[in-house]
Amino acid sequence: MSGVAAPARPREFAYCAADHRAVAALVYDSVGILLPDTKAQLVYGRLAPRVRACGLDSVGAYVALIGRDEAERARAIDALTTNHTSFFRESHHFDDFVERLWPALAARLARGGRVRLWSAACSSGEEPYSWLMAALGSDRSAAKALLKGDLRLLATDVSSSVIETARAGRYTAQTLRTVPAALRAAWVRGQGDDAAIDPMLRDAIAFRPLNLLGEWPMKGRFDAICCRNVMIYFDEPTKARLQTRLADRLETGGMLYIGHSERLVGAVQQRFRCVGRTAYLKVAA
Ligand SMILES: C[S@@+](CC[C@H](N)C(=O)[O-])C[C@H]1O[C@@H](n2cnc3c(N)ncnc32)[C@H](O)[C@@H]1O
Repeated sequence: MSGVAAPARPREFAYCAADHRAVAALVYDSVGILLPDTKAQLVYGRLAPRVRACGLDSVGAYVALIGRDEAERARAIDALTTNHTSFFRESHHFDDFVERLWPALAARLARGGRVRLWSAACSSGEEPYSWLMAALGSDRSAAKALLKGDLRLLATDVSSSVIETARAGRYTAQTLRTVPAALRAAWVRGQGDDAAIDPMLRDAIAFRPLNLLGEWPMKGRFDAICCRNVMIYFDEPTKARLQTRLADRLETGGMLYIGHSERLVGAVQQRFRCVGRTAYLKVAA
């Protein structure tokens, strides 16, 4: 762990290998994210502002603090999560959903039935907003009729700061550039860097903090789940446990979409049929 023992530039705060391993153990136990020794510099860079904000003089003292202070531990985890996302990222999943499931789900909504979707690890909201825009299209009056039905998209993330950003639904022009023009015209209000997602769309999404490794308060099953680009941070046993729980929460015939570099692991593979790029249909037992 030469990065910790001999830093290229002097650090503001002392940070030794034992500090890094203590942070890594705490993060792994809380949220499942792996922080190998090669991530020591990154971890230091993300925690140093918190050490400063708490008025401490070493990461070791900060590690002791987050061991006993739950609120500060949540802030540390917030700082250590990687929240990279974008509108219409891996949009083939939304295309698949719109073609494969949405016609029957929209018909069910029109008949008064319920539809439940889950964006698990939604980061700052680009994923659930893209998903709903793709499903509803640009015809606002048709969308309004569907949104009066029993449609809920649950969007969750362990980081409460990204959940606040998602809930606010305000994005810069740069962030919104990957939204197709017709959908932007239908669902984005305002111009330039002062743009916001239309409240009609925003209010159809329930944004909640949720640790995928913890208890899930939701009761029913989902028609489709996006759980993308989060399992890359987990080890194989954590992935296997999470994928089994996700399978349990999906309706038969429902879809699970995972990130482009992720795979189903172990016995859960038998519960799905791969029907597209990282797109899995849940089959009858
Ligand atoms: C790289 S982002 C992916 C966002 C989005 N799904 C996408 O594909 O663009 C990973 C997200 O997973 C969240 N995350 C990491 N560990 C988590 C856990 N144990 N429970 C819930 N969310 C977690 C992070 O906070 C982060 O926002």
